[in-house]
This record gives sequence, structure tokens and C-alpha cells, in this order.
Amino acid sequence: MLKRFATALVAGALAVTVAGCSSGSGGDSGATGGGGGGGDDKITMGFSQVGAESGWRTANTKSIQESAKEAGVELKFSDAQQKQENQIKALRSYIQQKVDVIAFSPVVVSGWDTVLKEAKDAKIPVILTDRAVDSADKTLYKTFLGSDFVEEGKKAGQWLVEQYKDSKDTVNIVELQGNTGAAPAIDRKKGFGEVIAADPKFKIIASQPGDFTRAKGKEVMEAFLKSNPKIDVLFAHNDDMGLGAIEAIEGAGKTPGKDIKIITIDAVHDGMQALADGKINYIVECSPLLGTQLMDLAKKVVKGEQVPERVVTEETTFTPEQAKQALPDRKY
Ligand code: AHR
Repeated sequence: MLKRFATALVAGALAVTVAGCSSGSGGDSGATGGGGGGGDDKITMGFSQVGAESGWRTANTKSIQESAKEAGVELKFSDAQQKQENQIKALRSYIQQKVDVIAFSPVVVSGWDTVLKEAKDAKIPVILTDRAVDSADKTLYKTFLGSDFVEEGKKAGQWLVEQYKDSKDTVNIVELQGNTGAAPAIDRKKGFGEVIAADPKFKIIASQPGDFTRAKGKEVMEAFLKSNPKIDVLFAHNDDMGLGAIEAIEGAGKTPGKDIKIITIDAVHDGMQALADGKINYIVECSPLLGTQLMDLAKKVVKGEQVPERVVTEETTFTPEQAKQALPDRKY
């Protein structure tokens, strides 16, 4: 296996050939094998996905699975159903299976040091994708590939500031956050908050987690509408929560995009359609298409090559007009 060879070279230790990982035995958390077994040049990746909570996540999973196939990487994939304990189980299972590289998108930022140390001790490189961890020891992982979530929050705030630049009235904002403790929830809130803090007329009158799902977005927005008679703006940390909130707003007899301005993040197909239809006013893109870059980085770290410690995804923003133009070629 490439990783074992490279590790032995780097560490100056004896090169030990380990029997190939069995495929299809992903452990308790439902990991499934990519099949094949692989020859000497084929690497095996254990990937622990957050879940299937959103359109973004579904597109991200597809990108990773397709890119693994194209790159000839044997993928062992598991879905943690938004639970950290399932991710830790999956990571331990990958360590036990002696995969060449582990990649995962951490559901929350904290609580990873022990399992990451176990991977390091087993000389299995780890790549963070999409979301960060807050480990002080940066040697516990090789690189972090994903978006700059603070920047995404800032872009959302900048659009809002621009929209209301000529108004002196108070702007009442409600915020639907992602799941508590997740990097995108923390960072998007921070970036948005920093930008709107420049003008005291912007007031966040309610802010609660909607767990990045449509159902929870709808439920929390219904509660916001009941307890707040005047809501001017909704900032939802992803399209799915925004789409759920649109149902709640329509259910309350209001017009989304007009009575309540809506800003979301992701730019998945359904969000872009709602933007083109005028139900959402602005979307900040967060690209889920991380698969190709991930496979490239994985091959490098397995060979013991240097990789940048941070790889930031390129992203844009969309107005309704831009959404109409982009929709026909949108890949997700
Ligand atoms: O970590 C990326 C975020 O997670 C996406 O914005 C959201 O849709 C997903 O669930």
C-alpha cells in the first residue's frame, strides 16, 4: 500500500506490507465499502460524512463518490446522521481497517483530539473536508479543504447593508442557524454579525438553530413569526432552512422575498430556483463540489508529499437575475 511505503520511508522505519483492507466492512456506524480491494497503486480512503441533512450535503456526497471512482480511490463511506458519536465510531473503524487515508467533515468543531491522535499514532493521515475542528494541535491532520464560512457570513451581511443603506428605520432580522457547534453555524453567524454591527439600525431580534434542515427551518420560522410581529429580514445559514422558512412565511399569509427579505447560503438547485422566482433575495454560494480536490490531496498525503495546510474553495454570490442565468448549467 502506498501510504505504508511512504510512511516507512519518511519515518525511516521498516517497510511493512500489510494485507489489503477488506471492503464493505465499515463498522457500527454503517460504513460501506467501495469494492475492489485495489492493487499496489490503489489507495483506500475512509470517509465519514456528516449526514444527508441538506441538498448541499447530497451534492457533496455525490461529488466525493464520483471523484473517488474517477481517481481510482477505493472509498469506504459512512453517514453519521448528524451525530458525532457515529463519526468517532466510523473513524475508529477506519483506523482498525488500516485504510491509507481518512477524510471527514466534522459535524461539530470540538471533541476530536483523542480519535485524531489515534489515527496519528496508527500513521494514517487525516484530511478535513468542508468543516474545521478546533484542535490546538494542527499536526493531527494534514490539511483542511473547504469554504471560508466567515467570509460567506460577511458577504450576506454586506448585501444587507447595501440594500438598506438609504434607510434610517430599524431593520428587524431573524436568523436560522445551522446545527449548534458546527463550524458553518459559528462562522457564518460571526461574519454576518461583524458586518451588520457597523450600523445599529440592524437588530437580530431572534436567532435559533434550524439544524440545516428544511423541516426544522420551517418549524423555527413558524415560532419566530408567532412571537415577532415585525420581521423585515431572514438570514438562514443554508438554502434548505430558507426553503422551509418560505413555507412558514406563506403559511402565515406573508410574501417571502417581499414582506420578508431572505438571504441564504449554498446556492443548491432548489434555493436557486426560489431565488429566480423572487422568494429568496440573495444567495451566497458554498460549493459542495470538493471531490476532485479531495482525491488529489489524498493521493499526495499518502505519498508523503507536502500539501498546503488550508485549501479554500472558490465561491461567488447570486442575485435573482444571476440565478436565472446560472440555473440551466447548475450541477447541483
Ligand atoms: O458544512 C456545509 C453546510 O452543511 C452547508 O451549508 C449546509 O447546507 C450543510 O448542511
